[in-house]
Amino acid sequence: PESSQRVYGIPLKYLSLVTLAVQNASLSILMRYSRVSDPEHSYNPASAVLLTEILKASISLYTAYKRTDDNTLNTNREDHLSPLFPKKKKSFLGNLPVKSSSNSNKRRISLSLKDDLRPSETKLKAKILAAQVFSRDSWKLSIPAILYVIQNNLAFVAASNLEVATFQVAYQMKILTTALFSVLLLGRSLSKTKWLSLVFLAIGVGIVQVQSTATPSSQGGIHAGNPVAGFMAVAMACLTSGLAGVYFELVLKGSNVDLWVRNVQLSLFSFPPALLPVLFGKAAQGLSLFERLNLVRNFNGWAYATVLTQVLGGLVTALVIKYSDNILKGFATSISIVISSIASVVLFDFAVTPGFVMGASTVLGSTMIYNKPSAAAAASNSGIPAD
Ligand code: C5P
Repeated sequence: PESSQRVYGIPLKYLSLVTLAVQNASLSILMRYSRVSDPEHSYNPASAVLLTEILKASISLYTAYKRTDDNTLNTNREDHLSPLFPKKKKSFLGNLPVKSSSNSNKRRISLSLKDDLRPSETKLKAKILAAQVFSRDSWKLSIPAILYVIQNNLAFVAASNLEVATFQVAYQMKILTTALFSVLLLGRSLSKTKWLSLVFLAIGVGIVQVQSTATPSSQGGIHAGNPVAGFMAVAMACLTSGLAGVYFELVLKGSNVDLWVRNVQLSLFSFPPALLPVLFGKAAQGLSLFERLNLVRNFNGWAYATVLTQVLGGLVTALVIKYSDNILKGFATSISIVISSIASVVLFDFAVTPGFVMGASTVLGSTMIYNKPSAAAAASNSGIPAD
């Protein structure tokens, strides 16, 4: 099926997982650095979240528009297009050697078009897309949209108050919340081993938390922060992440609406909640309306890099939810802890204490046990999202 899609011969499933691991590690480093590198001219995180949503919406809209072309018009018109009309350029996804074994599954909207309708094709495509985006069930995306906006704002609070590696390890609690909401909302059941590994995951996160609160950063300056506020933000971000992820999966897999149309819907619903703190948040106090709406106010290179990495992360997360499953997604992020811990030692002189090593290995070990496929799952592991 669709999960067998390949880009340059590599299954999209694995490509997206590796990209997510690297993206995850880079994001926590960039986010942290963008917050602490220039404390005098700090930018407004809420603006960064809104800017990210605007960029994601634009990319998703463009992709959805191009795919409307691929999925609907081409399949219907190619047969009777006269040579007068050169073959249309393919979308950027279409240019890649993406192989799909499910061509026959592509939705075909039967359009009785005549060749002389060609000039209005753009209009027609826009209409088809608009009908899909503003479909009756689009409101369902408002729930994950609000949750993701809250999560993304909380991530900035956490990154401002915690060391990179500590933030990464604590953020692994997502696995726990994702599992909880999968059981509650998707009716999944977990084996005893998996529940046990989740308990160890929580213990590991606890160890990291205790040692980092007990030993405040040796250096003031760029390491200063409020660990308690940081951990509370992470805990809340994990709750919203788990619920939003599971809800998005529920909506996405519950219908055959295109992923990119779903992404556009998600972005549209995230605009109002993302705009509110930009207009009325603490950081907006004393600013004129123009200054508030200048989303890149006080942005330095790190801030731009953070936003671009967030955009990439959002799009890859959507692909991972579609082509893989949450179990593999958790594994990808646990690899990123190792990457970012090493980078943190090099970049921020992060002091690796025995407590951190113990907590981090507990988190990694339990993540590995959690991700170890059961005999039954291994036998049926054919790329179809399991669990
Ligand atoms: O790590 P986690 O899965 O919780 O992160 C989800 C991130 O991906 C959030 O920043 C969210 O805004 C983004 N996302 C997205 N589009 C989706 C799903 C998630 O932009 N369809």
